[in-house]
Formats: sequence, structure tokens, C-alpha cells
Amino acid sequence: MVCLGNICRSPLAEGILRSKVDPEKVFVDSAGTAGYHVGELPDPRSIEVARRNGIDITDQRCRRFSIADLEDFDHIYVMDNSNLMNVRRVANSEKHRKKVMRILDVLGRDLRGEVPDPYYGGDQGFEKVFTMLDRACDEIVKTIL
Ligand code: 4NP
Repeated sequence: MVCLGNICRSPLAEGILRSKVDPEKVFVDSAGTAGYHVGELPDPRSIEVARRNGIDITDQRCRRFSIADLEDFDHIYVMDNSNLMNVRRVANSEKHRKKVMRILDVLGRDLRGEVPDPYYGGDQGFEKVFTMLDRACDEIVKTIL
């Protein structure tokens, strides 16, 4: 799960998908394309919306996306077009580029698109992001894993 800062959207995506899979079978992680917040906890608003939905993400610490992730992971879900461009840009093979997709695109034609960055907005943005990611993760569990 990849976003820009790895403190708002991708920690939620990681927590949500983790809550839906068998940890013995599926390893879920998240990272950011930027390094502004490396080592930090997720944003308090992400922690809070996750908590309200029964998910604890306080064990997560921000890390930066690395080129090795393209080899280490089978699927790389990004939140928006900018993340997609940044991750695909460092992918140097078709095999790696094919692993990368926008997470909402798993939902098909009507719901596909970008997960908006809630960082500069209010709490409502985080609720919306949670709902979008929850749906996408249900679809990932159903059809991809
Ligand atoms: P995220 O949100 O990519 O969903 O983690 C952001 C977090 C921090 C910043 C930008 C976006 N920032 O500029 O620090």
C-alpha cells in the first residue's frame, strides 16, 4: 500500500487489509514515496478513524517506498495518479510495472479513480477514505488474493 507521506492513506489501507487476511498467508505493508515523516506514527486522524472501526494501526511506523519493494511484493496498490507515476518511474521491468495499480481500480469502471489526500482537510475526509479503502480491500480479498 503506497501513498505520498505514508501517514494518512496507506497506513489505513495496510490496517484494513491486514484485518481481512490470514497473517500466515498474506504479508501486508505500506510505504510512502516521500520521506518527510519516516519513523513517525500514522496521522492521529487515521489512527482515530481506524480505532472507531475496530482496527489498531499504532504499531505502524512510516517508511519510504524502496525499489526493492517492487521485487518483494506481488501486488503494489497506490492511492493516486501521482503515486502511480512515482512508483512506475522507478520500476525498471515490465514484470515490476505490472504489479502496480491504483487501489480503487479493483472496484471496476464506476468506482475507479484516486483516493483523495485527506492530509489538509478535516476528519470527514478520513472517514471517506476509510470507506473507499474498506470496499477496495474487500474486493482484493475476494478476487485477487
Ligand atoms: P498521505 O498524506 O500521502 O495519505 O500519507 C500526506 C501526508 C503528509 C504529507 C502529504 C500527504 N505531507 O506533505 O507531509
